[in-house]
Amino acid sequence: MEIFKTGKHLQAHIENLKLKKLKVGFVPTMGALHDGHLSLIKAASKANDVVMVSIFVNPTQFNKPTDLKNYPRNEDSDIKILENSACDIVFIPTVDEIYPNENSMKKKYNFGHIVEIMEGEHRPGHFDGVAMVVSRLFQITKPNNAYFGQKDFQQFILIKTLSDKHLSDLSINVVCCPIIREKDGLAMSSRNILLDKNQRKSAALISKTLFEAKNIYKTYSVKELKENIKTAINADKKLKLEYIEIVSDPELNKITQWDDGQKMVACIAVQVGGVRLIDNVYFNSCL
Ligand code: PAJ
Repeated sequence: MEIFKTGKHLQAHIENLKLKKLKVGFVPTMGALHDGHLSLIKAASKANDVVMVSIFVNPTQFNKPTDLKNYPRNEDSDIKILENSACDIVFIPTVDEIYPNENSMKKKYNFGHIVEIMEGEHRPGHFDGVAMVVSRLFQITKPNNAYFGQKDFQQFILIKTLSDKHLSDLSINVVCCPIIREKDGLAMSSRNILLDKNQRKSAALISKTLFEAKNIYKTYSVKELKENIKTAINADKKLKLEYIEIVSDPELNKITQWDDGQKMVACIAVQVGGVRLIDNVYFNSCL
């Protein structure tokens, strides 16, 4: 496994691989790696000759300075984890490498309504930061395929739009991989290690509530179901619902009436102490 800290050296290496007609699969991460990240690496290794992972805690996507400060950073253990995985190349850039000047931190794309609801509404500027870093990483690395998790469903829709509409010249195929969960159903997340023992126990209620809702959704109106989910989450004093929304995939239109003619995804954000967790479940699909 080779570690690159500069885009220039990495680019030269990737150009060489491409000359040899090798396919490169890319997994962007912010580190603090867990089995969710490893599932993306596995998917990349199945469909590519070379697997590349980036570790970069992107400052522009954090809308709260404390969230950026508290974000878990475990570079040494991450490298060990990657050494035992199918990863061939690790890119660990500095902030200056990704954002060399003021211009590189400017918002370049307009995504319209897909960034105006859910995460976009509750984390102002977050998706501008995600688009900034992913476009920069894509431009530096120019992979054949790039892998993202359903865990961040709205982020996936954003990145697919970014790649297909705004960076189509790079011809990167953006792939979505299923959510990996803990035994009690909690979606794996780098933020889970910030939970104390009792918060961690309560956090299992998030996926439990979503899966229960999936089983009975048609018995209620959309409005009633959302109210019931809110009540169930807030019944645990350690949890506070930020939003519950049911949207169509891939348009991200808010569902107001059940419609099995489209794929419907229930998306949730919950505050557990100072930690913000998100999750989602398809209502009418096997995912
Ligand atoms: P990060 O939170 O480190 O996640 C990196 C990738 O792993 C994302 O595509 C995310 O959806 C996926 N992932 C996280 N938890 C998962 C789980 N339980 N199951 C499956 N996949 C999971 O998402 C980011 O970083 C950043 O926003 C990034 C895209 C790297 C841009 O900075």
